[in-house]
Amino acid sequence: MKIGVLTGGGDCPGLNAVIRAVVRKGTFHYEDEFLGFVEGWRGLLEDKTMDLGLSAVGGILPRGGTILRTSRTNPAKHENGLQHCAENLKKHGCEALIAIGGDDTLSVAEKLFQNGVKVVGVPKTIDNDLSGTDFTFGFDTAVNIATGAIDRVHTTAEAHNRVIVVEVMGRDSGWIATYSGIAGGADVILIPEIPFDIDQVAELIRQRHARGRYFSIVVAAEGAKFAGGVETQDGPSGGRDEFGHLRLGGIGAAVASEIEKRTGFESRSVVLGHIQRGGSPSAFDRVLATRYGLGAIDMVHRGEFGQMAALRGNKIISIPLAEAIASNRKVDKEILDAAIGILDKLDYKVSRTP
Ligand code: F6P
Repeated sequence: MKIGVLTGGGDCPGLNAVIRAVVRKGTFHYEDEFLGFVEGWRGLLEDKTMDLGLSAVGGILPRGGTILRTSRTNPAKHENGLQHCAENLKKHGCEALIAIGGDDTLSVAEKLFQNGVKVVGVPKTIDNDLSGTDFTFGFDTAVNIATGAIDRVHTTAEAHNRVIVVEVMGRDSGWIATYSGIAGGADVILIPEIPFDIDQVAELIRQRHARGRYFSIVVAAEGAKFAGGVETQDGPSGGRDEFGHLRLGGIGAAVASEIEKRTGFESRSVVLGHIQRGGSPSAFDRVLATRYGLGAIDMVHRGEFGQMAALRGNKIISIPLAEAIASNRKVDKEILDAAIGILDKLDYKVSRTP
């Protein structure tokens, strides 16, 4: 069978491991042929392709990014875009398509499926906010990078008696902030799911310092909001991509400045940004991405179209694309409880401190 493959949306470590697994299993076990559509949906829309045989995937397992490159192109926003995508697949004799991406990419995959294209999805996003799967690949690597950064910021904050706010990615959900905040021993974690009262944040830090600590670490997801406020935007005001997303950034600096105003403690901020998305995938993500790729090619040969490979417990299963894109997955209660359980508590009595 000839199968098209593309990667869409923000890149993430492990994309190449998925592509490699798809091509290796497809070639060795099913005698498939593959065609890469480059730069996400743009490649399928504009018919930009690359050969995707065994030699193309040699040595790519530890490489970050994606050999197919990516974009945030949305064919549904282009005149007859979905139709052009279907026609280009047919033109190349591709009987199926494997689309590797997050909710945006997979929402286009679902539309194409509704239009008769045989498509299988693979869940990708460092944000870990896709429904229906326990973990997306790329998340573990991002958390490791963020945790390493928090560890480093810790020592310099401690040396200078400073409050340092670390801004991590996470547009709609605070998975990276919560995991790296717990792993890095942060004192405050701010996530999009729970708008925060800056007076309470400042008071918590003031109380912590009154108990004898002289530095604090705050981790803030880029989508975190002041109570009653909106997300902090980076770049041209109102600028949105083809999926309607604003470019976020700046919450870390805003929080640091408000904490300094309220507490008098010298405060700084760092933005981890794309450092979290670049570089080599962790061993966990290499294995997970490989298993997703193997799952996707098996799904193609079982005829499970309009479906996405998903991780449940330790099993790779197949779920409807519609389920995966139905809603953004928020940080779940167990993880929130873990964060709440380990963080400082406001109004803890200073007199009881040893
Ligand atoms: O892919 C998700 C994500 O990493 C978000 O956390 C972040 O807001 C966004 O991508 C950044 O996208 P871009 O690289 O297009 O600026």
